[in-house]
Amino acid sequence: MPFPVHRPRRLRSADAIRKMVRETHLTPDDFIYPVFVTPGKGVRKKIVSMPGCFQMSADEIVKEAQKVHKLGIPAIILFGIPERKDERGSEAYSPKGIVQKTVRAVKDKVPGLVVITDVCMCEYTSHGHCGVVKEGRVLNDPTLELLAREALSHAKAGADIVAPSDMMDGRVAAIRDALDAGGFDDVPIMSYAAKYASAFYGPFREAAESTPAFGDRRSYQMDPANRREAIREVALDIEEGADIVMVKPAMSYMDIISDVKETFEVPVAAYNVSGEYSMVKAAAKLGWIDEMKIVMEILTSIKRAGADLILTYHAVDAVKELNK
Ligand code: PBG
Repeated sequence: MPFPVHRPRRLRSADAIRKMVRETHLTPDDFIYPVFVTPGKGVRKKIVSMPGCFQMSADEIVKEAQKVHKLGIPAIILFGIPERKDERGSEAYSPKGIVQKTVRAVKDKVPGLVVITDVCMCEYTSHGHCGVVKEGRVLNDPTLELLAREALSHAKAGADIVAPSDMMDGRVAAIRDALDAGGFDDVPIMSYAAKYASAFYGPFREAAESTPAFGDRRSYQMDPANRREAIREVALDIEEGADIVMVKPAMSYMDIISDVKETFEVPVAAYNVSGEYSMVKAAAKLGWIDEMKIVMEILTSIKRAGADLILTYHAVDAVKELNK
């Protein structure tokens, strides 16, 4: 007869005791802050569907990087919105590309901040798909060479970690080969290993101007209905040389985060994506939820599920809350 001997409420009776038995603690070190770089100078343009987020020019990103670093957030992940888009996304791997320029500027001014670059084609291609398109199909193998060139150009610019988000088969191996051949064998790869074809990316596509011009991404991103397939995707990426593996999105995919953490030994990242962020912002604006309480609960839950690292647009607010 467990009750009345067992009373779990005993350990909840006072804040001091609750703190002692708390299993999950968020720290600033958990966070990676995503930022969007756009051409120009002094540009800080609101992203309507993501209140509190901006498209910023490189000089503004440097200021943002200084702020983020001062707060104790260890890393940013950089997304580029190029001046020109074309069929083959050539701005993605140009040494003078927007991401390459911004990486150099940030590493010059804030060398202690870890700069991660998103490696993908969708922001740079005129059709908005994550690879080479032929006759309405996204081709896998011809895309690998472009992704490898893009990752190498990011490393040459000074990126500390590269993060392929395209979901082409074999891209981690292709990128690892290119980095090693270029003398960047010490640059880690954080792969978007289990990335689902999710409607939660909607606001990001406004932010990064990367909505596909036709069709959708279901021929390369994963089916939200699949759980075991995530293990296969992650295993392949680790075999190919991924140093950190990511599950994306986070909130509706906590089972996947948990499975990946249980199954593998490498660090696990989870991406608390744009749609997850915007829903919180919208409900808070309507006065229906307590924004910061919800944010801290969500982030704690993502960590509790198994994430070692959390990519989140809430990072700055969350760290301010932790520092209170
Ligand atoms: C690029 C990319 C996307 C996101 C990160 N990298 C969009 C997509 O796959 O369509 C989504 C991030 C977010 O929604 O916050 N491939």
